[in-house]
Amino acid sequence: MAREDLYDDPVFFQRYSQMDRSREGLAGAGEWEALEPLLPDLRGKRMLDLGCGYGWHCVWAAEHGASAVTGVDLSERMLAVAREKSAAFPQIVYLRSAIEDVSFPPESFDLVFSSLALHYLSSFQAFLALVRSCLRPGGDLVFSVEHPVFTAAGPQEWIYGLDGTPLPFPVDRYFDEGQRTARFLDAPVVKYHRTLTTYLDGLLTGGFRLLRVVEPQPPQRLLDRPGMRDELRRPMMLLVAARLETGAAERRTR
Ligand SMILES: C[S@@+](CC[C@H](N)C(=O)[O-])C[C@H]1O[C@@H](n2cnc3c(N)ncnc32)[C@H](O)[C@@H]1O
Repeated sequence: MAREDLYDDPVFFQRYSQMDRSREGLAGAGEWEALEPLLPDLRGKRMLDLGCGYGWHCVWAAEHGASAVTGVDLSERMLAVAREKSAAFPQIVYLRSAIEDVSFPPESFDLVFSSLALHYLSSFQAFLALVRSCLRPGGDLVFSVEHPVFTAAGPQEWIYGLDGTPLPFPVDRYFDEGQRTARFLDAPVVKYHRTLTTYLDGLLTGGFRLLRVVEPQPPQRLLDRPGMRDELRRPMMLLVAARLETGAAERRTR
């Protein structure tokens, strides 16, 4: 499915709305316990959330003192839910746009955040250029993305043995970066595979200081949910916190 269609497709959107993380918010997101400690103190801060979806993290930021929050998403249906959930927070604004198309004045934000959206972008370098263009020096970049072990082969599905238990998770074409077609919510979904090197070395050589790298495991409280124990067999997500070094934005635009 083309990037314009995916989350605005009524069938896909309906299925997404049934997921635990859609019904329960951050409490239903298996990585939240690991992601929350990576976020800086948001009191008085300006945050940009790229691929904000329902806006759960925007609301969380506003509740934790952020002075201005901008959520960007391609999907009008996702943004309609986000606007509804954020009605009590005038400091949150939503923009309907592709992440690839947004631009903001220099030093507009103290935190750039993105949860599970960057694997929809074809270029991580272009994403870093966007962050450098609008984050203040010394500001934070925190993101989660599907783990390279999870995205490498393509389908992102377990293969089952004759007894019905999942075989070892397939990892293949690891160094062959680029487009994959995964199955997600019973639909073919275009995502982009990148190596761990591209993510981490991209940050280190792109003007950022790495602060934290986490491969989250599902928390004990969710282990009894269907399929959750299998999530202990391979990493599904990569969480990263980094800080923009002073002078990085200027050096890169020269
Ligand atoms: C898996 S959802 C995550 C939503 C939210 N960040 C969260 O963690 O709950 C991915 C979101 O990214 C959005 N998205 C995907 N590709 C995008 C793009 N190129 N530009 C803007 N948003 C995009 C989708 O519309 C969707 O809302």
